[in-house]
Amino acid sequence: MRAVVITRPGGPEVLAIEDRPRPVPAAGEILVRVRASALNRADLLQREGNYPPPPGAPDIPGLEFAGEVAAVGARVTRWREGDRVFGLVAGGAHAEYLVTDAGCVAPVPDALSWTDAGCIPEAFITAHDALVTQAGLRANEFVLVHAVGSGVGLAAVQIARAWGATPFGTARSPEKIERARTLGMADGVVVAGDPGVIVDATQRWTGKHGIDVILDLVGGPYVAADIQAAAPRGRIMLVGSVAGRSATIPSGMILGKRLTLRGTVLRGRGVEEKRVVTAAFAAEVVPRLANGELAATVDSEFALDDIRAAHERLASNATFGKVALRVE
Ligand SMILES: NC(=O)c1ccc[n+]([C@@H]2O[C@H](COP(=O)([O-])OP(=O)(O)OC[C@H]3O[C@@H](n4cnc5c(N)ncnc54)[C@H](OP(=O)(O)O)[C@@H]3O)[C@@H](O)[C@H]2O)c1
Repeated sequence: MRAVVITRPGGPEVLAIEDRPRPVPAAGEILVRVRASALNRADLLQREGNYPPPPGAPDIPGLEFAGEVAAVGARVTRWREGDRVFGLVAGGAHAEYLVTDAGCVAPVPDALSWTDAGCIPEAFITAHDALVTQAGLRANEFVLVHAVGSGVGLAAVQIARAWGATPFGTARSPEKIERARTLGMADGVVVAGDPGVIVDATQRWTGKHGIDVILDLVGGPYVAADIQAAAPRGRIMLVGSVAGRSATIPSGMILGKRLTLRGTVLRGRGVEEKRVVTAAFAAEVVPRLANGELAATVDSEFALDDIRAAHERLASNATFGKVALRVE
């Protein structure tokens, strides 16, 4: 099979397409003919040599996929050859075939194209797990999403709306704020330098109540602003660290407001936990994708052969939504 490989740590030029043996599903696993995937920040970090795959994961990059079941391993009764499925893997999705646990995929609704389906798992599972499962988002709460034009950010805006909450967002360009409004974001603020502007904006938007649930996809200096912007008993979910991996924070305010600060990561979770998040996604998100209440936002689409250009597009920070990968 054809697969993307990272020939050595470096820029997009170290990516190549190679022939690799088609993987064989073990008991409890399925073989998937990948039709579409998408890019994630983790792919860029892995290419640079800064985010090795977890033990046991393939060295082929790619964390999400949509495709057809091509074969099933022993004891798999839930799926049949030809079923359309999508899900997360710890690696291996930027290839024509992958194997995964039969409990770590969900059925792709008929209405979804391969491209849309391939852009959904990472963004929607991350956003749903963080906002709904972990932060316990409730109707009528205020939500703030940093880097709102990101793949995860736009999934989070839609999920917040679908759960009856009011989403706000931040971005570093006014264009992304304007475009996010069309997906249900109530208001947003451009952060050009000091993230302190977030605090004034959120006080204004919420009539001084503050933000109940913050999805922080940026990290670094944004974390101090999160704590100041949070409502009493607010929940701050630390999901990304594109702006830095450390922060100086007003810790006294965490006590005074009784805040919850929680970090999360999907890739490093074991198979049991991945089955649980996938089941929650299948039960609560997939029906809303099927009826059109939630949808993928595709920034651009590249063929597997154009993997270098796809990496460049994601690294540009100019994207709005997901960079899709077509696997023909
Ligand atoms: N914990 C997990 O399991 C998990 C899973 C998936 C993703 N993530 C993380 O979640 C974040 C979003 O992922 P994604 O794939 O949806 O991202 P994405 O589509 O690549 O978008 C990321 C956006 O972040 C903004 N950004 C980049 N550098 C920034 C900086 N220094 N300061 C402020 N904003 C910056 C850029 O938008 P603007 O500058 O235009 O606003 C960029 O377009 C990433 O940090 C990713 O690593 C975590």
